[in-house]
Amino acid sequence: MSIMITGGLGLIGSELCRLLVQKGEDVVVFDMACQNMNRIHDIEHNVKIVRGNLNSLIQIIDTVKNYKVDKIFHLGGMLSEACDRNPWESYQVNLLGTIHILEAARLFNVEQIIFASTQGTYAMGTKGNIDDFTIQRPTMVYGIEKLFCELLGKYYRDHYNIDFRSLRYPSIIGPFIKTPGVAQYNAWMIEHAIAGRNYKCPVQKDTINPIMYYKDAALAAYLLSCAERSRIYTVNYNIRGVSQVMSAGDLEIALQKYYPNFAVEYTITENPGLYKDFNIYSVDDSNACREWGWKPEYDTFDKLIRDFAEVVKAHRNTQETFNIISV
Ligand SMILES: NC(=O)c1ccc[n+]([C@@H]2O[C@H](COP(=O)([O-])OP(=O)(O)OC[C@H]3O[C@@H](n4cnc5c(N)ncnc54)[C@H](O)[C@@H]3O)[C@@H](O)[C@H]2O)c1
Repeated sequence: MSIMITGGLGLIGSELCRLLVQKGEDVVVFDMACQNMNRIHDIEHNVKIVRGNLNSLIQIIDTVKNYKVDKIFHLGGMLSEACDRNPWESYQVNLLGTIHILEAARLFNVEQIIFASTQGTYAMGTKGNIDDFTIQRPTMVYGIEKLFCELLGKYYRDHYNIDFRSLRYPSIIGPFIKTPGVAQYNAWMIEHAIAGRNYKCPVQKDTINPIMYYKDAALAAYLLSCAERSRIYTVNYNIRGVSQVMSAGDLEIALQKYYPNFAVEYTITENPGLYKDFNIYSVDDSNACREWGWKPEYDTFDKLIRDFAEVVKAHRNTQETFNIISV
């Protein structure tokens, strides 16, 4: 039996892959970007890699059947701004792709699916604290798709006994992110500071956005999957990473503690509307904490920045390679 990770070459998927390999699991990575092994170069030979597209039911069924998959971490897909730029393609990948995963699981008795959802399932006008009972009325294609998948997964859980569970991630921060768009401004600001470069930030100084370190994102997926089924009531969970929600300006000041010469110029160049009305100040993840023991390892900005800098330092020689490959 093996564990399949869709999007296993991406930011979160590759870290999860590393975690599962360390635990001695038999891992199958399903991803369309197989020219890009950089994030798993150290464990490339410890996992099976299948080049495939989520829009193909046949490729998914073949993988599930051939590798006797009994658990799927479904992390593959298009991210927020790509979906809004190309909704039709995103329907094939994020909607149809998830339907394919659910159907393959139903047909081939896959026990469990862990799905990566997003706090983008809340409307951009959502203000203040969110919890698992806050009404989700997403206003962007990406959030609409993710909410549909959360609900469809719950349906498959209730009707076909598939152990579907999902995580609503905040903005995930990690090194070497090349996804185009403004959504990555936190990660890029940190990476610029570490590299000794000033940063042109594409959002306003007072923009706020809850963040989580990518290693915690992988850990959360792993911990959720390990929990006893009898403990899972909420099914689709909000989770918190760094406890303090900071504005872009706060992040700049926090970075200056480590890099005193670092400076940010706020130049609203593209799609500022994405974050204009995004005002989530805190995330209540008490259901995740109570039901499956969620606790982030990088719950302060200081812990995050120290590890981020270590990872960048360790990959200094391969950074050029990261830079030329777009994920
Ligand atoms: N990064 C964030 O801030 C964030 C926030 C909330 C939720 N999420 C969700 O978490 C998951 C993982 O995000 P990430 O940050 O690792 O993204 P990523 O872009 O780094 O990784 C996604 C992976 O999916 C693969 N992929 C894309 N389209 C595919 C297709 N049609 N067929 C097969 N593979 C395909 C890509 O090649 C890539 O390796 C995604 O589902 C994303 O929506 C991410």
